[in-house]
Amino acid sequence: MATKSLLCVQMLLLTSIVFVVLGHEAVKSEQYPLVVSTWPFVEAVRAAWRAVDAGFSSVDAVIEGCSACEELRCDGTVGPGGSPDENGETTIDALVMDGATMEVGAVAAMRYVKDGIRAARLVMQHTKHTLLVGEKASAFAISMGLPGPTNLSSTESMEKWTKWKQNHCQPNFWKNVIPVNSCGPYHGKDSLKLSDRTCSEDSLLGNIESSSSHFSVNNHDTISMAVIDKGGHIAVGTSTNGATFKIPGRVGDGPIVGSSAYADDEVGACGATGDGDIMMRFLPCYQVVESMRLGMEPKLAAKDAISRIARKFPDFVGAVFAVNKNGEHAGACYGWTFQYSVRRPLMDDVKVVTVHPHSLP
Ligand code: GLY
Repeated sequence: MATKSLLCVQMLLLTSIVFVVLGHEAVKSEQYPLVVSTWPFVEAVRAAWRAVDAGFSSVDAVIEGCSACEELRCDGTVGPGGSPDENGETTIDALVMDGATMEVGAVAAMRYVKDGIRAARLVMQHTKHTLLVGEKASAFAISMGLPGPTNLSSTESMEKWTKWKQNHCQPNFWKNVIPVNSCGPYHGKDSLKLSDRTCSEDSLLGNIESSSSHFSVNNHDTISMAVIDKGGHIAVGTSTNGATFKIPGRVGDGPIVGSSAYADDEVGACGATGDGDIMMRFLPCYQVVESMRLGMEPKLAAKDAISRIARKFPDFVGAVFAVNKNGEHAGACYGWTFQYSVRRPLMDDVKVVTVHPHSLP
């Protein structure tokens, strides 16, 4: 009888251990794998999900997801054929970060090569550098086997650029320059003596649009994606063709680690979108991850990072999503309504989450 009871207790114990272990696994498998991406870039999230659900690494999945967006030219702001600069040229910024190793690869203002995220991965995999830029980034990517040189313009980007030229190159990203209402060449207003300036020039100088006006709800600008794989490893990636009518040579926040994206297996990840010229001054994604490291919930960390920017630049538009290592996610935005996309186990398909802008803190 005593032996029987002991056996029962043992079985009970064993059952509860199995239950706890299975219970833990069940919770875990509901949390990840996980894919989160800026905007309703649903096909990109599906592509990343297929990879990570099949057992590929978070880095592999990020490459698949961002690559799909580049091929689809998501919103015209990712991949080739969008955001012409002042010369009508499309250039590409992209980044990948492995949150397990803290390795990063990035390309900025890359010309003639359409595969931004794959080029970024080549930098991470085959060099000891972090960021390659411009024509040298293109040469590197082509030498490592990516297709190119390719004309990155499209009929749409050339039409947009032609209209902009006809509109005297307005709006643009210059400030404190003369002349204002033409296509340049521009001169710094300080380089002219005060007596040389006309009244009309002076009054127009105050009329220059802020760069924020170039980003709108129809100009979503960046895919920033985070993936947690089945092993719990986190990676992030970004890809964008930057800001429309940017000054040639301009690099946005897309390839700046800590600004457009950041990941650390120990904590979680963040992705950002918006006015990169402003956002990169605050490294909002580094801020988000470090705030979560100190114990902040994803929602508060996201809000805090956006508030820090809005307090100094009340005209900026931007958004971040935050995801912690347990797969809890949240977003915050300012100046526009933000949407981000999520796919995890027990979901039939990608879910799009809408985040409403918050007012000045
Ligand atoms: N957020 C994209 C850019 O500013 O280039």
